[in-house]
Amino acid sequence: MPIQASTSAATIRGRHPAGRVSFASYVTTVTASDAPLRKFIGMNTIIRKDRAVWLHGPSADGSVQCAAVPGEHKHPWRLILLGAPGVGKGTQAELLTRRLDACHLSTGDIFRAAKERRDCDQSPAMKEALEYMRRGELVPDSTVWEMVRERSSCILDCGGFILDGFPRTLGQAESLKELMETEKLSLSAVVNYELPVDEIVRRLSGRRTCEKCKSVFHVTERPPKVETVCDHCGGRLYQREDDRPEAITVRLEAYERSTAPLIQFYKDLGLLMPIVAQGSPDEILARTMDQLDKLAVGFDKTSAKSSQNAEKVHVKHS
Ligand code: AP5
Repeated sequence: MPIQASTSAATIRGRHPAGRVSFASYVTTVTASDAPLRKFIGMNTIIRKDRAVWLHGPSADGSVQCAAVPGEHKHPWRLILLGAPGVGKGTQAELLTRRLDACHLSTGDIFRAAKERRDCDQSPAMKEALEYMRRGELVPDSTVWEMVRERSSCILDCGGFILDGFPRTLGQAESLKELMETEKLSLSAVVNYELPVDEIVRRLSGRRTCEKCKSVFHVTERPPKVETVCDHCGGRLYQREDDRPEAITVRLEAYERSTAPLIQFYKDLGLLMPIVAQGSPDEILARTMDQLDKLAVGFDKTSAKSSQNAEKVHVKHS
C-alpha cells in the first residue's frame, strides 16, 4: 500500500512490515508528561542504539551489527524530521529516540563517521561527498541515495525510525517514497521544526560536538559542565567545520533552495506536522510528543473502528 495522499489520520498511521495495519496499546502511554513516560519506560527497555549498521554500512560477512535495535512493535513510529540546519533536529532526534524506541538515522552522521576513517578506507564517492559537506553544500542525490539504499534494512526492518537530515531534496523524497511503497510501509508523520533565521545562526555558531561519542552541546544554551570536555565520556569538544560562518551561509541557501520545497510535498501527502522550535529542548520535545500523542489517539480510534467492522463482517458471514 503506497503512502496515501490524504489528510485523514487514518492514512498517516504506521504499517506492520507485512503490510497489515496494526496498533500497540502502549502508544497511548507515550505522552509529554513524566508519569506516563515512566510507565512507558517500565514496559519497554529504552536504551541508546549504537546504529553501527547505519553509520558504517552493512558488511558482507555480517561483522557490523548494532548492539541493540528496537524490538518489533505493533505500531512502529516512522518519522522524518525536517527543518533548517541548526534548528535542533539532531537534539530532538536523540530525545525522541528514547521516548519512541526508534532508531535515529542521520545522513550527516554517516558522513561524519566516514570522515574519521583512514584516507585509504574512503571510497572516491565518499571523499567527494566530504568535500561538498565541508563547503556546506548538499551532497549529490546519487551518492546520498546509494548510501541510504545500502542501509535500507535500517529503514525497512527496524522497529521504527527517526530520519534526520534525509530526505533533503525532492528527488530524495521521491526515492524514499518509492522504496516504502514497494515494501508496503508508510510514514507516521513528517515533523517540521520552525525557527527564525537569527536564532538558527546563533545555535549553529555556538554548537560543540564531542569527538568521541558525538554528543552535542551549545556554548551558552547547553554548556558542558567543564569547558570543552564532554559530560558523557570525557571526550574533547570541537566545532564542526561546516559551522564556520561562510559554510553556514551556504547551508542556509541550500536549505531554502532544495529542502524547503519538501514542506509542501509532505503537506500535500497529509503528513506534515509543524512544530515551533523555540524554547528549551525539553519544551520542544513536549510540544512534539503532544502532537504525536494526538496522532496516536487517531490511530487507536481507527483501529477500534476497523475491528468493529471486521466483527460485523464476521457476523454477517457466519
Ligand atoms: P547534517 O548533519 O544533517 O546537518 P544539518 O541538517 O545542517 O543539521 P545540523 O546537524 O547542523 O543541525 P540540527 O538541526 O541537527 O541541530 P542540532 O540539534 O545539532 O548535515 C551536514 C551536511 O551533510 C550537509 O550540509 C550536507 O553537506 C551533508 N548531507 C547530510 N545529509 C544530506 C542529504 N540527505 N543530502 C545531501 N547532503 C546531505 O542543534 C544545533 C545547536 O543548537 C546545538 O549546539 C544544540 O545544542 C543547540 N540547540 C538545540 N536545540 C536547542 C534549543 N531548543 N535551544 C537552544 N539551543 C539548542
